[in-house]
Amino acid sequence: MTVKSSTDYKDAPTELANPFRVDDEVTIGDAPCALVIFGASGDLTQRKLIPAVFALRQGGYVDSHNPLIGFARSSRSDEQFRAEMSEALKKFSRMRSATVEEFTAFTNDLYYQVGDYSDPETFVTLGKRLEELAEKHGTHGNCLFYLATPPSSFGMILKNLKVSGLVDESNGAFRRVVVEKPIGTDRDSARKLNLQIHDSFSEKQVFRIDHYLGKETVQNILAFRFGNGIFEPLWNRRYIDHVQITVAETIGVGSRAGYFDTAGIARDMLQSHILQLMTLIAMEPPIAIRGESIRDEKVKVLRAIKPFTRMEAIRNVVRGQYQPGVVDGADSLGYLEEEDVPTKSQTETFVALKLEIDNWRWSGVPFYIRTGKRLAKRVSQVNIVYRRPPLAFFEEFGCDAPEQNVLGIRIQPEEGISMSFVSKRPGPSFHIDPVRMDFKYSSAFAKQTPEAYERLILDAMLGEASLFAREDEVDLSWKLIDPIIESWSGANAAPLYHYQAGNWGPEESSALLERSSREWLRL
Ligand code: BG6
Repeated sequence: MTVKSSTDYKDAPTELANPFRVDDEVTIGDAPCALVIFGASGDLTQRKLIPAVFALRQGGYVDSHNPLIGFARSSRSDEQFRAEMSEALKKFSRMRSATVEEFTAFTNDLYYQVGDYSDPETFVTLGKRLEELAEKHGTHGNCLFYLATPPSSFGMILKNLKVSGLVDESNGAFRRVVVEKPIGTDRDSARKLNLQIHDSFSEKQVFRIDHYLGKETVQNILAFRFGNGIFEPLWNRRYIDHVQITVAETIGVGSRAGYFDTAGIARDMLQSHILQLMTLIAMEPPIAIRGESIRDEKVKVLRAIKPFTRMEAIRNVVRGQYQPGVVDGADSLGYLEEEDVPTKSQTETFVALKLEIDNWRWSGVPFYIRTGKRLAKRVSQVNIVYRRPPLAFFEEFGCDAPEQNVLGIRIQPEEGISMSFVSKRPGPSFHIDPVRMDFKYSSAFAKQTPEAYERLILDAMLGEASLFAREDEVDLSWKLIDPIIESWSGANAAPLYHYQAGNWGPEESSALLERSSREWLRL
């Protein structure tokens, strides 16, 4: 049975506040609200969420009007939770040079609530706690719930928030929910989850987080495209030959095999982060850099992507799994040897594919995408590869055909933008060589780049949803991914290729481009 989408966005706000404001516009007191983190004993809370809220506090974006309640199943006191979070901050915060007083002022506003997600009584207790904190911290009853648990608990939490009256906004206070990925494991399960979410919250209360949208370099794609006069006229099929998107990691699955082995990289990275990145590259100019306009344009791109049939998925998608190898100079296990990975697992740790966008701007311009774990280098980069000039003038001087111009947008690390072109080599003969113009964030801006979660948590507190995935984006991205994943099982399933850890994925990934005389650029 196919589950129907739960909303036509009639209850989504038409315009939200501008998320691309300058820092000074956000002041302490703009966002008084309690933050409740479900899954407070987990990795995400310690590594990302607590450090992000601390950085917001240090930046003056939040203060004691923003108490935080960690909610989890294991028993601990407020003091124990504070001590654990202090340790986490020492390890993971980018603000480790803060003073003891600053750390203490922050951790004093942390609280802990033990409870079973399936027990409505605990939510009643949570409600009482929120009332006390509203009084003590002046939150005006505003509250942001953050679902950082495994997705299997989302349904219970959402239901119990509703039955205990915690989602009610009738007294003027806001109640919002941030939902971590993955939103479902396929289109049907995502629709079911969205129905569950909408059973408790309206779309304007929902913030589906995709941390790639909080990365400065990803937001800079909009500034770069629409804040400059010279690039946008060249941003189409007349000038662009093809686009390459690489999101490569050197890490393996680590201790996350329990989750990863059931997900695989297509669900883990492609359906969310990479399609978000791609839509920002491919979308039409929105009517304004704000609110729903951006999300509307992203949705149009997703609608225009040519869907994969099973045969096309088999031809245009390559999946791989890493074997033992050497990464960053150290021996690395193969995926099957990793802790908690079933010995015969067929889960993909690499995927490469060719996408086509059937619209006026991109018709005939392939988008080649690859992502994987245990690859040669940690790098996320978009390369816009331009067409060659119409005549090869320099061949008569013995030069090879000039390399294609490439505009490289480096998402991480060494964030920046580069442009490659050819230049005459100094000397009496007419030789041409490729050269590069480079912009680096680190040298252009003295400021430390904030972590993605900082921006996104603050936006959710302020009710700004543009940097969060809307329900229809999630739905359409699954529509695209489902046939790919389906092509990996059943009769004539697409093969699972292997690659040595520390390589750029299986050779078949290069073959995807070689078919049309192209190649992955060196990163
Ligand atoms: C997460 C994935 O969403 O993103 C991980 O679940 C992945 O598997 C991570 O490692 C990558 O994020 P970043 O910010 O390190 O590129």
